[in-house]
Amino acid sequence: SPAIEPTAPTTAGAVRQIPAREALRRRYLMCRPEHFAVTYAINPWMDPAAGADAARAVEQWEALRSAYLALGHEVELIDPLPGLPDMVFAANGALVVGGRVYGARFTHAERAAEGPAYASWLRANGFPELLEPTHTNEGEGDFLTLDHVILAGTGFRTDLAAHQEAQEYLGRPVVTLRLVDPRFYHLDTALFPLDGDNVAYYPGAFSPGSRAVLERLFPDAIIADEQDAEVLGLNAVSDGLNVVVNAEATGLIKLLDERGHRPVPVDLSELRKAGGGPKCCTLELRTA
Ligand code: ARG
Repeated sequence: SPAIEPTAPTTAGAVRQIPAREALRRRYLMCRPEHFAVTYAINPWMDPAAGADAARAVEQWEALRSAYLALGHEVELIDPLPGLPDMVFAANGALVVGGRVYGARFTHAERAAEGPAYASWLRANGFPELLEPTHTNEGEGDFLTLDHVILAGTGFRTDLAAHQEAQEYLGRPVVTLRLVDPRFYHLDTALFPLDGDNVAYYPGAFSPGSRAVLERLFPDAIIADEQDAEVLGLNAVSDGLNVVVNAEATGLIKLLDERGHRPVPVDLSELRKAGGGPKCCTLELRTA
């Protein structure tokens, strides 16, 4: 069959078409790090001998919260509990999709009490539909929601069986990704959704098979390098346009800018001493 002639001349040159990006108003749950400390080590970032400064962590966390409010998002707060120094990492408290909650069940005893604490807050604040998990999973630390799929990490914390449990309960396809680098022990330390159907990630955090899956699913992904990953640059939060991201991730910030995203740099260096960044501090409450 004859080739179809283009009716308009195509633009020559290497100028990438930047699609119009749209910010969607989000509802987040956060936990002020009043009891933040590094008293145990459950990931390679944590050094109890070096410790951390809770007052400084609170200041940085307040700036993160202000950044969300300035972008027009809603921020709900859960009361921090003494004896739970990692409770600031709200992302691990649950996975909330379509108004349904898949509860967390932590890998390490030190954080076990956070699961029920987040579950009771959610039940009392408009999310009565909650599944108590049978399998170990650390909420949005290892489950990242896009429009058509949920990406799920395994290898360090969340069990493969939890991926199936979440899929069955939420009725969304869950795609398993295998994490292989202990510095990037949660999926949200290696990858973040840019919008409903694209992501940014650091390939070195994933097994060869999972890297191939990511290439197939996201041919237009933003690929971050090890320097960006090492400052937890991939632990970012996008609303579809604005990307709240660790300021030290300068390479990633440049890429975001070039692709028409709007980087919003924050300093969470004190929380990084526990292995966390902006996304770790943020649980999205999705009613759709
Ligand atoms: N110290 C915490 C842990 O190892 C940090 C959790 C960070 N949260 C996250 N969503 N990646 O469990």
